[in-house]
Amino acid sequence: MDPITNPYAPGAGSQPPELAGRDELRETTRIALERVRRGMPTKSILMVGLRGVGKTVLLDRMRDNAEAVEIQTMRIEAPEGRSLPALLAPELRLALLRLSRNEKAKELAQRALRGLAGFAKALKLKYQDIEVGFDFEPEKGLADNGDLEHDLQALLEAVGAAAQKAETALVLFIDELQYVPEDELAILITALHRCSQRRLPVVLVGAGLPQLRGRMGRAKSYAERLFDFPEIGPLDPLAARIAIKKPAEAQGVKVNDDALQRIIEETRCYPYFLQEWGKHVWDVASASPIVRQDVDVASKAAVAALDESFFRVRFERLTPVEKRYLRAMAELGPGPHRSGDIADKLGRQVTSLGPTRNQLITKGMVWSPSHGDTAFTVPLFDEFMRRIMPGNDWLTQ
Ligand SMILES: Nc1ncnc2c1ncn2[C@@H]1O[C@H](COP(=O)(O)OP(=O)(O)OP(=O)(O)O)[C@@H](O)[C@H]1O
Ligand SMILES: [Mg+2]
Repeated sequence: MDPITNPYAPGAGSQPPELAGRDELRETTRIALERVRRGMPTKSILMVGLRGVGKTVLLDRMRDNAEAVEIQTMRIEAPEGRSLPALLAPELRLALLRLSRNEKAKELAQRALRGLAGFAKALKLKYQDIEVGFDFEPEKGLADNGDLEHDLQALLEAVGAAAQKAETALVLFIDELQYVPEDELAILITALHRCSQRRLPVVLVGAGLPQLRGRMGRAKSYAERLFDFPEIGPLDPLAARIAIKKPAEAQGVKVNDDALQRIIEETRCYPYFLQEWGKHVWDVASASPIVRQDVDVASKAAVAALDESFFRVRFERLTPVEKRYLRAMAELGPGPHRSGDIADKLGRQVTSLGPTRNQLITKGMVWSPSHGDTAFTVPLFDEFMRRIMPGNDWLTQ
């Protein structure tokens, strides 16, 4: 089929042609945000799931939906190594400038902008990466203590008051939340808690790897009560079929049932893989309908493309020791695996592997579903590791 009209969209954060199987969660979120706007008690939402399941595209879609009904939003991605105040400050400023265009909220929004100026100035010493434009002079005593915990609370309260006056809500959409250090996470939770206690319309919709849930609990024991943690996983088979079928049909192309079945088996219904298979099957097929043989031919190219992009970017960030650790895990299968079993494979003591395991957790490559267990955060990574480090050489390296 014509590659120019290929509808599928493999890629981190690329909106799929059909966002399949997520309607329920989008509706729950819509209701939650509407409740926040009205000052009703509502939990923040933190979507957790493995790599490539569609957290980012969901977050972006939810944000679009919120903006369409005039809820104020800000969008942040937490990279490794930037401080939370540095990420928040410029986005808060933009949200406040928008709020200050609202006649009713103008005064309070300007006050919050003064708070932001004080916040940034006072914290600059500790968080040198804060860069934000100043529109107003600081107001003495407003969010300018120089202590993040106190100042963030005061600032978000000031922002919340402005949003409330404008009869809207401010939603913080934060992606890759697992990279925010635990102490900063704790401070963010406290500030959000404070807003929720005061019924101020400020709420978080976040996304991250599965370890986020444990990190939140460790950061603040009451986090469990303040947040919902919907799990984003592979699609159910029906939704996976729709994800492939609908975009093709929109262009008058049919996909045979046995072809769909084959795609489901190959991808295990993981969204990233579905897009990759969709793309390659489309390019391989010469005419409608797409048949099973097309999938058989395309599978090779799809696996190769995944190896080159999705898997390889992660593999290349690993040290040789980390690679061996993951290769040993892969030898045991998809997982989760007991730390003792991994150590046995490597002929090492569990304790001596602790630092490597911790680094892998920090890098977001593995997580611990329960004490002493280790699992991949990238679906089908075990198969990739066996492809890229075949044989037994890794054992002796
Ligand atoms: N519901 C869905 N239906 C079909 N395709 C989807 C769906 N959700 C996501 N995708 C596709 O899956 C791929 C990965 O999506 P996305 O980048 O949002 O995943 P992610 O969970 O944020 O991954 P990571 O943890 O690596 O950031 C994209 O190509 C996207 O188009
Ligand atoms: Mg993402």
